[in-house]
Amino acid sequence: MKARNGVESARPYEPEKNPAIRRLTAGAIKRRKGKTTFPVATAYDAPFGQFVERAGIDVILVGDSVGNVVLGFDETTPVTLESILYHTQAVVRGTTRAHIMADMPFGSYQVSNEDALRSAIRLVKEGGACSVKLEGGRDQTDRIRAITGAGIPVVGHIGVTPQTAGLGPGFKMRTHRDRLIDDARSVEAGGAYAIVLEVVDYEISREITEMLSIPTIGIGSGPHCDSQVLVLHDILGMYPHSPSFAKRYAEIGELATQALESYAQEVRDRTFPP
Ligand code: KIV
Repeated sequence: MKARNGVESARPYEPEKNPAIRRLTAGAIKRRKGKTTFPVATAYDAPFGQFVERAGIDVILVGDSVGNVVLGFDETTPVTLESILYHTQAVVRGTTRAHIMADMPFGSYQVSNEDALRSAIRLVKEGGACSVKLEGGRDQTDRIRAITGAGIPVVGHIGVTPQTAGLGPGFKMRTHRDRLIDDARSVEAGGAYAIVLEVVDYEISREITEMLSIPTIGIGSGPHCDSQVLVLHDILGMYPHSPSFAKRYAEIGELATQALESYAQEVRDRTFPP
């Protein structure tokens, strides 16, 4: 197809055939505030992205939790930008309408606004992400502003921030009200369209949710948030060390082991192939 300027267009504008055009936007997610409580789940590859989308979950986070649940690390800190790019591309290929939020891994945004913007641009341009998420409150307001200033929607993340939790405060519930409120306000002021509250005291989460005009996405932060997010491998029971706040809706890890045992036994018994 030729575009109006006569140049061959890589992606013709055919909304019926080009599902990417119909992806849920950050603006639409922001407008859900006060109207509907919505689920968010993580995904890291094409088939599971598709399962999540088919389940009617239209916001998918390619979290740096990929480090724990897929790559075998004990923490998220070693996850690289290249890894998030690789997994984001896979989830984008496996989905058509969902909003794909890519996590900015540790080291990809801390050094400078320019560095943060460069990383965010890669996640959108090469990864196909619809928005990016980064950890931190008041200390990250400039980064959020720099990225949103270039037109890339940003999600903030306060409370437990796993990329650095292991270096200092750990993973215990965050209860420092004034600090949390200040962080939440700063993230909103920076231009974020939503904010993750991770393991934040339930009443403080309620207060922040009521106070902000952007949706709060809770994880381990109680029932008052505008949205909830869980890690896919916790929802499906595919990771042995789920946090206590997570609910396992299936035990797919067990099922997988049983299926593999059956296959192995049938090969040993010579009943497979039939
Ligand atoms: O990496 C991740 O999966 C996350 C969620 C836990 C919010 O950041």
